[in-house]
Amino acid sequence: DDESGQAAFDAVIAADSRIEPRDWMPEDYRRTLIRQISQHAHSEIIGMQPEGNWITRAPSLKRKAILLAKVQDEAGHGLYLYSAAQTLGITRDEMTRQLIDGKAKYSSIFNYPTPTWADMGAIGWLVDGAAICNQVPLCRASYGPYARAMVRICKEESFHQRQGFEILLTLMQGTDAQREMAQESVDRWYWPALMMFGPPDDESPNSARSMAWKIKRFSNDELRQRFVGMLVPQAEALGVSLPDPTLRWNAQEERYDMSEIDWTEFHEILAGRGPMNAVRIQNRRNAHEDGAWVREAAVAYARRQALKAER
Ligand code: ACO
Repeated sequence: DDESGQAAFDAVIAADSRIEPRDWMPEDYRRTLIRQISQHAHSEIIGMQPEGNWITRAPSLKRKAILLAKVQDEAGHGLYLYSAAQTLGITRDEMTRQLIDGKAKYSSIFNYPTPTWADMGAIGWLVDGAAICNQVPLCRASYGPYARAMVRICKEESFHQRQGFEILLTLMQGTDAQREMAQESVDRWYWPALMMFGPPDDESPNSARSMAWKIKRFSNDELRQRFVGMLVPQAEALGVSLPDPTLRWNAQEERYDMSEIDWTEFHEILAGRGPMNAVRIQNRRNAHEDGAWVREAAVAYARRQALKAER
């Protein structure tokens, strides 16, 4: 019953153990996980587009092979995450429907355009860097299927982050025009990457409960601080500057002082009014519609196999 279920659930959380799909769990815990995991899955799938934009124009065969592999990894991440969400009782069809109807959230970061090759570097370094920072603690999330998916995803993300860093490093060792292109791209991606961690702690409605349930282990602002701390020495190694003139280490408070994030821009994007929101959803909807024949064929094939097995 609910009472003994709740007690067992509380004990698992207190012991830092894992909740598994067949275990009793509070309805709100289930809903929160479906929300977060499906948003995460959608982010991976929509996240294929900004980089997919450069596959046919990568500057060399090697760069093209790497980028292709990376975008395929993102598809894989989306699929593990949809599977993890399905263990909670939502179907893949429902999640896809929410996404292509424009009702589901996905990460704000994927609503920006990728006009230059340097954007492939900045996305790897900054966007995948932020993703790792946010996702490493999720490897210890209390829901088993999510935590286990995160382990594999984080390994692949760290390859993605290095390949981005290496693209920027190559550009920074190139011509003046290449250095400018790298810096211009870092200038565009820095603030949106900081927004990936979500609203400030005092405006994050889900944080307290998700932390009590040990889905989240650190707050949005804590992770944002940790990320900036990672970036500072890496920016120095690259020779790029971070576009925040007030950024400096505050030894007394043991944290970075930084300029205020433009939360209006963040809220505009969440409301669907970012530069690329409409394009991203339209592309996803088209891909889904174009793939209808594959789904129909798969169902017909499965039906025929089942009939054969009966005979
Ligand atoms: N982009 C879009 N929506 C966001 C973002 C963002 N960067 N940050 C927060 N939000 C949304 C939340 O989803 C929530 O919306 P909802 O309540 O309607 O679902 C709302 O803003 C308020 O935020 P929080 O209360 O802070 O929400 P939450 O506790 O879920 O924290 C966070 C947000 C940190 C993004 C969390 O959901 C998380 O860690 N998710 C998993 C990681 C992830 O999704 N990464 C995707 C990008 S990385 C990549 O794919 C390469």
